[in-house]
Amino acid sequence: MNAVTRPTTGAEYAVAICAEESDRRCRATFQQLVLEFSRPGDALLDFGAGPGLDAHCYAEHGRRVVTYDVDVDMSRYLETYCREFIAAGSVTPWHAAYRQFLEADEVPGGRFALITANFAPLNLIDDVTGLFRRFATLAAPDGLVLASVLSPYYAGDARYAWWWRNAARLCVHGRYAVPGASSNIWRRTPADFASACKPHFHLAQAWAGNRTGVPGRASWLHLARCRYMFLLFRRAGTSPQGRAARRA
Ligand SMILES: C[S@@+](CC[C@H](N)C(=O)[O-])C[C@H]1O[C@@H](n2cnc3c(N)ncnc32)[C@H](O)[C@@H]1O
Repeated sequence: MNAVTRPTTGAEYAVAICAEESDRRCRATFQQLVLEFSRPGDALLDFGAGPGLDAHCYAEHGRRVVTYDVDVDMSRYLETYCREFIAAGSVTPWHAAYRQFLEADEVPGGRFALITANFAPLNLIDDVTGLFRRFATLAAPDGLVLASVLSPYYAGDARYAWWWRNAARLCVHGRYAVPGASSNIWRRTPADFASACKPHFHLAQAWAGNRTGVPGRASWLHLARCRYMFLLFRRAGTSPQGRAARRA
């Protein structure tokens, strides 16, 4: 399913996003990465958490999760789906307007070891640099951001006229937007994300959504085969060793 393009209620979304084997595999792969890059007891922020499918999984594995989403209906679904973890204090829903998310002094949960964003919330953000500026105030000093974003090279999208119309723009600018139901849907290259996350973060690693490596020049070949790609951002000035030591 092209998760970001279909406006649905939280309940309808939760059913649709679990319907296809490829989406279920992609979620399981992302969740596995999250568990590898965090430890039981760590504080996680799930940005664009939607119906809470991931928050539930992370809480089951001992993480303390704050979920943030702008959508009321998604948040309502999450409150039911994760109710036992909310009651136990291991999932804390944070629902607010996006401007409030960017500017609030009071944030539930303190500093986060890992900020996650699965199934493309970052593709719905116009000002990615502003979002990473906010992430810098929310992440722990060696905190990470792990995001699943739409691959701009996904060959399956080549059947759409908008993909061809924007191919030159992607080559020249590294990004383009198509209008969605409630916001723009951005496609960005890894290089564009690498530039947009500065100066607070740097793009440390990228994988295609089936977790095959993206080693450089041939990267678009990996990325053409999956609708999603996974990007790992580290705080600027931190080394892989600090966080690697945290991996179980
Ligand atoms: C495709 S859904 C992904 C939901 C969930 N992360 C998952 O894995 O199924 C994208 C989510 O991003 C949320 N979203 C859109 N704009 C947002 C924003 N500015 N801030 C936070 N969440 C946003 C939507 O409400 C939606 O829940």
